[in-house]
Amino acid sequence: MSRRSDFPLLVANPGLHYLDSAATSQKPSVVLDALRNFYETANANPHRGAYALSVAATDAYDGARQKVAGFVGVADPDCLIFTRGTTESLNLIATSWGRTNLEAGDEIIVTALDHHANFVPWQQLAISVGATLRICEITSEGRLDLDCFAQFLSPKTKLVAVGHVSNALGTINPIKEIVAMVRERTDAVIVCDGAQGVPHLRVGFDELGVDFYAFSGHKMCGPMGIGGLIGKRELLEAMPPYQMGGDMVEFVYDDRTTWNVLPHKFEAGTPNAADAVGLAAAVGYLEGIGMDEVLRHERSLVAEASERLSQIEGITIYGPPAAERSGVVSFTLGDVHPHDLATILDGDGICIRAGNHCAQPLMRRLDVSATARASFYVYNEKSDIDALVEGVLKAKEIFGHAVV
Ligand code: ALA
Repeated sequence: MSRRSDFPLLVANPGLHYLDSAATSQKPSVVLDALRNFYETANANPHRGAYALSVAATDAYDGARQKVAGFVGVADPDCLIFTRGTTESLNLIATSWGRTNLEAGDEIIVTALDHHANFVPWQQLAISVGATLRICEITSEGRLDLDCFAQFLSPKTKLVAVGHVSNALGTINPIKEIVAMVRERTDAVIVCDGAQGVPHLRVGFDELGVDFYAFSGHKMCGPMGIGGLIGKRELLEAMPPYQMGGDMVEFVYDDRTTWNVLPHKFEAGTPNAADAVGLAAAVGYLEGIGMDEVLRHERSLVAEASERLSQIEGITIYGPPAAERSGVVSFTLGDVHPHDLATILDGDGICIRAGNHCAQPLMRRLDVSATARASFYVYNEKSDIDALVEGVLKAKEIFGHAVV
């Protein structure tokens, strides 16, 4: 059954082939309805009013936290902090935990597979405290080189930052194996970037074993501007606040302030209640499909798209075999610049991302400046692959001289 009809933007644009869900997903009616319903029936400032409408807003916000916490497998909803998204979550950890706990001589391990949001905050943290940044290399198939990773682990390792799923290649990293390696050799804190994990995989924070997990709502059918940071309670409680303002305080004296309990300590200012409610509706939508089905559906599309694209002369596909990736096909067509390819495809209503995918360290390892990336989600269909393949063949004809 087609799910395209659940998405008003796709219904309004029947000729559109949206293949850029790794950048942001489309939003189903249930999410748009939830946003409208919040503003029409419960809009007030949560936690601040003694009147019924503010209580309704508080209940809606708290209920959204419970729903999302259940989805990402954290038993204690107070350990789920609502943020603007993955980038803010990772910056929160780097600033609050990192600047409190790291010092010169310590080591941070990041990976060459990661996007800038899970690379630059750690690089800059290392520079500011005098720590050393170790970059785990990748294999020729675009997997993490676990031998390289193992070599970096030492008593000096204080933080490991790894992505759950690569946005540029779709590689799914073996997080449990990585956690076991880290725990065996160090007491480092493990940060997992789940921006491309939560939308596509069944995630259980408590069983994954990492210390922090970050994700964004807008890549999983939710609104832009809402996401989450999950952390272990003992770590979150020991960390100083990230931003100062209303709601994150307990008592404010003239000369000092004490902090509110979790999760409020990390949610300064008016909370983004409407988008949290929208995110909870997105969770409900994905649960209705089932995360196993989400992954199965994407994998079947990725397998077919990879197979058909690979038959076109001049195409190079990056990353591990399709059966091991999430919903991403990253490719180049001879010497055709991916931006030119994307422009040709756009002429036929096909939306792909072309560029470095906010992953310049990875592009250097792949020895390309950019790739074209088609990314699939719950609403994509075989007809999207047909359009993509036709579009690439058309581009090949136009730029024939550049395809060898
Ligand atoms: N990180 C997002 C992407 O992969 C923006 O496109």
